[in-house]
Amino acid sequence: MLLAGDVIHGFKTVFPIPLAEASAFDPHLAERTARAAAIEASSHGLHWTFAPMVDVARDQRWGRVSEGAGEDVFLGQMLAQARVRGFQGKDLTAPDSLLATAKHFAAYGAVTAGMDYNSVELSEAALRETHLPPFLAAFEAGCLSVMTAFNDINGVPATANRHLLDDILRGEWNFKGVTISDYTADQELVAHGFAVDDRDAARLAILAGVDISMQSGLYNRYLPELVAGGEVPLAVIDASVRRVLMLKEALGLFDRPFRSIDPKLQNSRTATPALRALSREAGARSIVLLRNEGGLLPLPRSGKRIALIGPFAEDRDNILGPWSFFGDKSLGVDLATGLRAGLDDPGWLVIAKGSEVESAIPGGIEAAVAAANAADVVLLAIGESQNMSGEAQSRTDIGLPRAQHLLAEAVAATGKPVVVLLRHGRAMVLEGAVKAAPAILATWFLGTETGNAVADVVFGAVNPSGRLPVSFPHESGQEPFAYNHRSTGRPAPLAPESQEYKARWRTTRNEAAYAFGHGLGYAPFGLSHLSLSTERLAWNATLTIAAQVANLGQVAGEHVVQLYIRDRVASRTRPVRELKGFQRVALRPGERREVRFTLRRDQLMFVGEGDRWTVEPGRFDLWVASSAVDGLAGSFELLAAG
Ligand code: BGC
Repeated sequence: MLLAGDVIHGFKTVFPIPLAEASAFDPHLAERTARAAAIEASSHGLHWTFAPMVDVARDQRWGRVSEGAGEDVFLGQMLAQARVRGFQGKDLTAPDSLLATAKHFAAYGAVTAGMDYNSVELSEAALRETHLPPFLAAFEAGCLSVMTAFNDINGVPATANRHLLDDILRGEWNFKGVTISDYTADQELVAHGFAVDDRDAARLAILAGVDISMQSGLYNRYLPELVAGGEVPLAVIDASVRRVLMLKEALGLFDRPFRSIDPKLQNSRTATPALRALSREAGARSIVLLRNEGGLLPLPRSGKRIALIGPFAEDRDNILGPWSFFGDKSLGVDLATGLRAGLDDPGWLVIAKGSEVESAIPGGIEAAVAAANAADVVLLAIGESQNMSGEAQSRTDIGLPRAQHLLAEAVAATGKPVVVLLRHGRAMVLEGAVKAAPAILATWFLGTETGNAVADVVFGAVNPSGRLPVSFPHESGQEPFAYNHRSTGRPAPLAPESQEYKARWRTTRNEAAYAFGHGLGYAPFGLSHLSLSTERLAWNATLTIAAQVANLGQVAGEHVVQLYIRDRVASRTRPVRELKGFQRVALRPGERREVRFTLRRDQLMFVGEGDRWTVEPGRFDLWVASSAVDGLAGSFELLAAG
């Protein structure tokens, strides 16, 4: 028996949603939370998780952005590998190892208009350059299973897609593991108009190389007669069966069929203090300080009357986040509880709900305004509910529901300083009083320890160091919106008055409201002294890039130093920036350190002629930066071979 389930960001103890955790720009953290989740989940008998989701997602309307690593390929690769290592551990036969599944193969993040399950229209080059690399990275880290996606790609559903499953996965990549359909994705070939009926759907899926049919029961029902009738060669079934047996063997299930079933272990491994401490740490590290005018944050633990206002103030239904159905809700720490525990005297905090997530409360705004008026500072806990994010929760408008807008405007009109505590599973559009609030924390869905993690940052026990893994646009209509877009023939200059007949929107700016990679802390950091080991990089050589990072503030902190490149001229138009490396640097006040990155030719490749990976000599720009839109700029030339 092989027991599988969706352990996406924790089991009973829930960690931040994967998108939140991506904000930590810290593969080691992702590995630790995946390992911890595997230890807890396997003690309950599970062998196999349907995670990590490694879909690159550039359209924030898509609800499943929350489950992945965001809009960047490189970050996606790093986190895919870290999560696979974490779930599986060093030894797959160990009772606490959880087999990982890379999903959803492929290009599920590219669904048209961000509507879940929608069709995908994609060039082969974009498929290979953007959507496939995190899968390959996961397999390189030892991932032995992959889930086929619901969507079609250029008219061929992924779950019957021989090009994906045969040519690429098993052919080019020599993948030896198991493929499993997404939930009823084989049966859905009928609704796609790709299979005549259920029987035909089973035939198409197995012939395309889908080893396990999830949930539909079609394989059990139809494979015997399909084989008997000669429509599916027995050798195809044998190959699939052999792969599934290999998986069980890899897990050691033939030697120890009950390897993960031990009630004693289960008790000692569930919701332990260590798991909760890790959830709290991961939560605090996933928070992104978007804005902090006048150093409003951190708040003191006493001496200021705080009004915690908003639908999430005491809410306990939207703490764990989407995909946490094994999660133990009773363990969840809400904001009010966490903040009170962080204050010297809980009496400094007053609470007013103000509104529901999507509707007004009679008298709610009046009560919230009264609470704000009686306070020195407002914490405004607003955003998306858990069921506005995740599977099938696509949105056309990625802003705040109107009821919360009205609440925010009324509270801001009191003139009290407002700190926005945003709860969300995607990049959001911030408007009006929310956009203008002097301090904004992106707090995503942080899991079990939400309230404590937020309090750690609000009161400065933790200096925030998260960075955005997705760009925040100004308007929903700008989606899909990512930093790594290509240049048009008419790039818009910054000055609005010179933008006529340039690539721009009439109503808003092209620059992100908050860029990919952006995030502040309680100490400013500075970058300086960029140097390159050479400006003429020989074909087989390595370029070393160095810069100095300094903590210019009064408190210790961590900075995420980012390396971006741009291929200036190539036979395919290239992104205006591409992330090629990042490093977390911890510095005491006044401390400075040199960071070094290296670049080689293979990191400069792209998919070009014939849809093949290539690299061309020529000039490249680079930036050592604190986000996708700033940095120390340099350039080098890749010299031709020989
Ligand atoms: C989701 C998968 C998940 C599966 C099993 C599907 O609806 O797309 O990501 O693993 O359900 O729960």
